[in-house]
Amino acid sequence: MGTALPPRTVTNAELAGQLDTSDAWIRSRTGIGERRVVDPGTATSDLAVEAGERALKSAGAAGSGGSSGGSSGGSGGSGGSGGADAVIVATTTPDRRCPATAPLVAARLGLGTAPAFDLAAVCTGFLYGLAAAAGLIAAGTAGRVLVVGADTFSTLLDPADRSTRAIFGDGAGAVVLRAGDPAEPGALGPLDLGSDGTGSELITVPSGGSRDPLPGPDHDPYFRMTGKAVFRSAVERMSGSARSVLDRTGWDAPDLLVAHQANLRILHAVADRLGIARDRCAVNIDRVGNTAAASLPLALADAAGSGSLRPGDRVLLTAFGGGLTWGACTLVWPALEAL
Ligand code: UT7
Repeated sequence: MGTALPPRTVTNAELAGQLDTSDAWIRSRTGIGERRVVDPGTATSDLAVEAGERALKSAGAAGSGGSSGGSSGGSGGSGGSGGADAVIVATTTPDRRCPATAPLVAARLGLGTAPAFDLAAVCTGFLYGLAAAAGLIAAGTAGRVLVVGADTFSTLLDPADRSTRAIFGDGAGAVVLRAGDPAEPGALGPLDLGSDGTGSELITVPSGGSRDPLPGPDHDPYFRMTGKAVFRSAVERMSGSARSVLDRTGWDAPDLLVAHQANLRILHAVADRLGIARDRCAVNIDRVGNTAAASLPLALADAAGSGSLRPGDRVLLTAFGGGLTWGACTLVWPALEAL
């Protein structure tokens, strides 16, 4: 596992100097104290490559285990031991609308001609990416898959929109998934995914797609979110999805709930609904805000780094995002160093 955060910190006080907001409002309504923001010229792939490099190094240090390289020989990539032979980049903020960001990330990581594609499930992207990686491994297409959740939402926000600028931050997190024994720590347990396109207007970038191409008058190229409705749906969907995987795993409760860092009040509401003590809930939103597809791996790495997540702990992952999309998964935390 590896992570990357841009060096520049934007505090609530800095935002309050630009917008009609305050540190007290942002902290009390979201739990966020500061977030990281890329400087102009830094793209999502830059963060993805940094996180990916660290994940590959961390995976190499942990030993390759399982097979290296697709058992079907499909990839022909150069991802040998410590490498990867497929790359998935979950993102809503690709470097460009075309082509996908993942092939560029694979090339910059020296992964040769490994298959590489982007995955669009907004803040649920990392969980969808884990599911897709597990599928590639099960099909024999790849032996080791680099799954990156990377977003630079600061590049997509309306500078005048206090409700989104207060929330989102930039970052990336990555893991290397490999074939192995389902009973091994780190093996993905039951995975639940869902979507509801009737809610597609609640989290949206209205213009710039085929429905309303840019440029032109009356277009809105910025990210928009209907906060209240999203809040309610996030609590309902994450707790429902999490409950279903807990039941399928046969756990009453996990040792740690690692939920998408959308809002501290959402995290607490999900924990309450699941009967999980709030202090068993991973929290890094205070320092990084909502980092979209990077949220889960950043929260996992933060918990592992602070010692609140230890090898052998039972972990419950859950996320919710635009689409609408959601999902959950259980796993036992493996002995690894998140770099
Ligand atoms: O990552 C994908 C999933 N995302 C989420 O799950 C986010 C879910 N939604 C939320 O976290 C919350 O809805 C927000 C944090 C976005 C907003 O909090 P809220 O308590 O739901 O506030 P609201 O949208 O109902 O707005 C209440 C008031 C409004 O003012 P009026 O219309 O009552 O005068 C907003 O304009 O708060 C205002 N407001 C702000 N005030 C100061 C909204 N953002 C801000 C702000 N500073 N940054």
